[in-house]
Amino acid sequence: MSGRIPQQFIDDLIARADIAEVIGSRVRLQKAGREYKACCPFHNEKTPSFTVSPTKQFYHCFGCGAHGTAIGFLMEFDGLGFIEAIEDLASQVGIEVPREAGAKQGPSRVDYYATLAEAAAFYRRSLKQSVPAVDYLKNRGLNGETVTAFGIGYAPDSWEALGKNVGTDDDSRQHLIETGMLKPRREGRGWFDMFRDRIMFPIRDTRGRVIAFGGRTLGDGEPKYLNSPESDLFHKGRELYGLYEARQANRDIDTLVVVEGYMDVVALAQHGIHNAVATLGTACTEAHLDKLFRVADNVVICFDGDAAGRRAAWRALENALGGMREGRQVRFLFLPDGHDPDSLVAEEGAAGFNSRLADSQPLSEYLVSHLGEQVDLGSVDGRAKFVELARPLLARLPAGVYREMMIDRLAQTARIDSRRLRGLLGESVTSTSQTRVRRPQRPGERGNRVRQAIKLLLQHPAALQYAEVPDGLATLDRPGIPVLCQLVADLRTDPNLSTAAILERWRDHEVGNYLARLAADEVLVDVDGAADELRNIFSQLARDGAIGTRANELMAKAGAEGLSDAEKQELQALLGTRHGPDRTNQGV
Ligand code: UTP
Ligand code: MN
Repeated sequence: MSGRIPQQFIDDLIARADIAEVIGSRVRLQKAGREYKACCPFHNEKTPSFTVSPTKQFYHCFGCGAHGTAIGFLMEFDGLGFIEAIEDLASQVGIEVPREAGAKQGPSRVDYYATLAEAAAFYRRSLKQSVPAVDYLKNRGLNGETVTAFGIGYAPDSWEALGKNVGTDDDSRQHLIETGMLKPRREGRGWFDMFRDRIMFPIRDTRGRVIAFGGRTLGDGEPKYLNSPESDLFHKGRELYGLYEARQANRDIDTLVVVEGYMDVVALAQHGIHNAVATLGTACTEAHLDKLFRVADNVVICFDGDAAGRRAAWRALENALGGMREGRQVRFLFLPDGHDPDSLVAEEGAAGFNSRLADSQPLSEYLVSHLGEQVDLGSVDGRAKFVELARPLLARLPAGVYREMMIDRLAQTARIDSRRLRGLLGESVTSTSQTRVRRPQRPGERGNRVRQAIKLLLQHPAALQYAEVPDGLATLDRPGIPVLCQLVADLRTDPNLSTAAILERWRDHEVGNYLARLAADEVLVDVDGAADELRNIFSQLARDGAIGTRANELMAKAGAEGLSDAEKQELQALLGTRHGPDRTNQGV
């Protein structure tokens, strides 16, 4: 569907788009000096810590650390993919998205959305004409308002109702086929409707566009639910049924409740609980959790109390660990046997369900109790086993306050001093190093000068014009040098690149995120100050380079033929200098 979009076009797009306008049309911005401020749309806050810089064409939140370009903002806020965000921005700016030669130019996604929207409208019309379908929904306790809010419809009991009513031309027929709404007939030619005599739940993306359907039988036919197959528009592992509707009901959601079924979401909404979403017959994946945390800080995962529900809950816990940090909470709610949220809210009402939510189990507690059930905490080896079981889970938690609290909690349970436990976990890091995820080496981790140069160039790209880059820069053997050289090369080709345009070039690179963070860091200098500092760093790097070369020469000679006393002294001095203190970080 997507050809590669040329770099030059992305540069132009970033240069033409105004990030303040893009964000300003979605979030209320207030002018503050040369920048804009707002309450962050990505976390809950009362005082604004979200800033938008028109100079850098970059946004950054000092509260939650969210940051990015106009393209990144559209991806985050509107839940768009990269190509979609590009297309969106381009249409706002009024330009066509070109594709590099060789790209397959399929029909645009817009057409698919339009056809699926027509299908949904057709099902809604059909619902009005079907007494049994309307009765079914009434019997399940739903009123017209809820049915409308979720766009629920009915697929007539016919082999070609959809095909005849919506697939009326070659294009829309093709869209229905590719999204799995029409299936090929086994014999002869032609197509038949995939959904027949079913209640239809449209699945919408975060912008409210229909991307798939779930269809339920009115009786007890099999399968009970039929779902659209995965397509370019629809990935089960990423979508959450009801998220769009929840945000329609309330823009500032504090807690999202994850349930298992379409009917659970809809029945809860019917009872005034509008913050439920459902995974679509899959586990709660990391992608799901990312999406949930983008909208709310608290997530309650609600599962059946049976064995399958508990297995699913544990998998959700494992998937949640990587995203846990201070300020976020995941809780678990296990329902009594034989109940789902739909039946429970019918029996106990909203108040009953809400009080169960309030009593749900924090992730840390669930983790401890689940592991505790597998060992005998009364014995020493049981407690050792407990630590072993916890080890890989802790390894998934990002460093931070949350992780520290978790370690304390586990230490308490295992009756080990928490410092001892940290020690044990530390040891494990080397003994089981093959299971540890190695973070890619970031530029400047050991070479602060290089990192500082990168940071200055990101924040003040124009400064490069006033600083001379040493010749042998690329030959320096230091972390970050390749990135720095690439930045320099890009800026020489196009000195007008903005911070955002540079970052877009690194979007898919492993250091892309790291660079974005450097771009968001505060530097206290203006462009002239940045140029001064860059000149300084470059000359130091040049000196280091020269020193390094001479030192290598001497060391080679030492190995081959030996050094004179003078040379020995020189080498010692050089090595001393080379490993001396790094003093370029002043004032930052
Ligand atoms: P359940 O079997 O728990 O159904 O499936 P439910 O949500 O309680 O539905 P009602 O109350 O009987 O109408 C939970 C979810 O699993 C998926 C659906 O997403 C469903 O909402 N599922 C279930 C399927 O995809 N296919 C099936 O045949 C059954
Ligand atoms: Mn049910």
